[in-house]
Amino acid sequence: MTKKMAFIGAGSMAESILSGILASGFLSKENIIITNKSDFERLEHLEREYHIQYVEDKQETVAGAHIVLLAVKPYDMEAAIESIRAYLDPDQLLISVAAGVSTDTISQLLGREIPVIRAMPNTSAAAGASATAVTRGQHATESHLRTALELFRTIGTATEVDEEDMHTVTAIAGSGPAYVYYLVEAMEEAAVASGLDKQTVHELLVQTIAGAGEMLKSSGQGPTQLRKNITSPGGTTQAGLEALDKGRFQETVIACVETARERSVELGKK
Ligand SMILES: NC(=O)c1ccc[n+]([C@@H]2O[C@H](COP(=O)([O-])OP(=O)(O)OC[C@H]3O[C@@H](n4cnc5c(N)ncnc54)[C@H](OP(=O)(O)O)[C@@H]3O)[C@@H](O)[C@H]2O)c1
Repeated sequence: MTKKMAFIGAGSMAESILSGILASGFLSKENIIITNKSDFERLEHLEREYHIQYVEDKQETVAGAHIVLLAVKPYDMEAAIESIRAYLDPDQLLISVAAGVSTDTISQLLGREIPVIRAMPNTSAAAGASATAVTRGQHATESHLRTALELFRTIGTATEVDEEDMHTVTAIAGSGPAYVYYLVEAMEEAAVASGLDKQTVHELLVQTIAGAGEMLKSSGQGPTQLRKNITSPGGTTQAGLEALDKGRFQETVIACVETARERSVELGKK
């Protein structure tokens, strides 16, 4: 049976997922329907771009959908769930991508026995390269989980985690791309200051990051071994790493991840 999917929310994350599921063939355009709160120009744009249907009526949006994806900001969740709650039934799977909103909170807002899955994609979803973590809430079965994993694999990788680990996921995979960009910014600044032109620096660094990622993925070696492979005694890499150690690089990065995690816990309580 062909699955149908309804998107509640039509912002940037919805568009990334939409484009992934269409490009991969997970679903075809006839089986997707989308709505948002009030920005109908945005819905028209998505209709033109992806040839999907949009409707303003929430009942019509969720009717007949096997998967209902909530892609609204955390502070809009309550209103969004309220607007569809009466039209959902237990045969449907509700997937939320709202950062920091627990499956229990979603179930409480629903007040009904609807299977819930929570996912945490990251911004690389826009390039089809998200590292997504998925967790199962109340009433969600193994089969629902498989569906969600399959869906999020259309925009990158997807892994199941325990819900309590979502804070750590947020600290490393949600915020992680920003730390990598920050590192690139600093390396760019140093290289440009040494006289290399910005465009060349950019190209070299983009490929350096992508290449290091590819090595981590496919070489069969871990980060420690890969680092050691490049670090000959008395060489340039060793000199550079010693400068990082002097600046307490490892301790600083560990503090960065722990602080982001603590912030996620704090925000989750609000
Ligand atoms: N962007 C990312 O990379 C990223 C990464 C991880 C997680 N997320 C999560 O993804 C969710 C969406 O983020 P985003 O960046 O896509 O946000 P966004 O671009 O601001 O889009 C939010 C969408 O939600 C719609 N909306 C708000 N209230 C609604 C309601 N009551 N009913 C129906 N639709 C409603 C908005 O419609 P109007 O425009 O009409 O108001 C808009 O289409 C957030 O919870 C965020 O935490 C995003």
